[in-house]
Amino acid sequence: MRSCSVKPLAIIAGTGLYDFPGLENAEDLNMCNRWGEVSSAIRRGTVEGRQVCFMTRHGRNHKIPPHEINYRANIQALHDLGCEDVIAITAVGGINRGLKNADLAIPDQLIDYTWGRSSTFFEKNLEDVVHVDFGEPYCPNLRDGLGQAACKMGIQVPMQMTYGATQGPRLETRAEIDRMERDGCDLVGMTGMPEAVLARELGMNYANLSVVVNMAAGRSPGPITMDDIRLTLNDGMAKVTKLLKLYLMK
Ligand code: HPA
Repeated sequence: MRSCSVKPLAIIAGTGLYDFPGLENAEDLNMCNRWGEVSSAIRRGTVEGRQVCFMTRHGRNHKIPPHEINYRANIQALHDLGCEDVIAITAVGGINRGLKNADLAIPDQLIDYTWGRSSTFFEKNLEDVVHVDFGEPYCPNLRDGLGQAACKMGIQVPMQMTYGATQGPRLETRAEIDRMERDGCDLVGMTGMPEAVLARELGMNYANLSVVVNMAAGRSPGPITMDDIRLTLNDGMAKVTKLLKLYLMK
């Protein structure tokens, strides 16, 4: 089953993906709203006849660390552009030992370990307190569509996985990753929250497409280095771009 929206598709890209090749008639939109400045100009164009709004959450030159991203401004801007569906790409560490570098995953659950981030639109001057339902944090239709695109590509992409969102910017200790594993996390990343819940608060459909760029602390022989991560990112993001194009094809 495909997503129900024919409105523009929002793609929020993370580490390692700064452009979406194949965007036709693209224009860059510099946006700012009552929550502040958006991470980067939003590139709006068309792919396979569907309008796409492509944003890089760390900025085009990867300068904004996870805890400094203005998640509210970003999600608000995509909402203001009429996007109902959001596909969020996140680079992650693999906790589940069945994963390996450059694997993709489409999680169905998350656990939030972040703190101190502005994580709601419903903060002040409310007529009433708002508690959104978040039992299923990711949109099943979007997830199905991504899963079908993975099938067309002929790759295995696990779909029952739990994403653990950590504060960063440091990577985790081995004990923290062991605890996250006991909690049921398969993937660890720093940007999955509050992005997902903010999209929910605005009634948007949101799915996470994760790319394993390293095995998490204690899951690989040596220290995790940025150089190793960069090497894996190229392979992983090439898969992501291909999968997204298949997703966008009717
Ligand atoms: N931990 C947290 N976030 C990450 C990792 C990791 O190992 N790799 C990529 N993002």
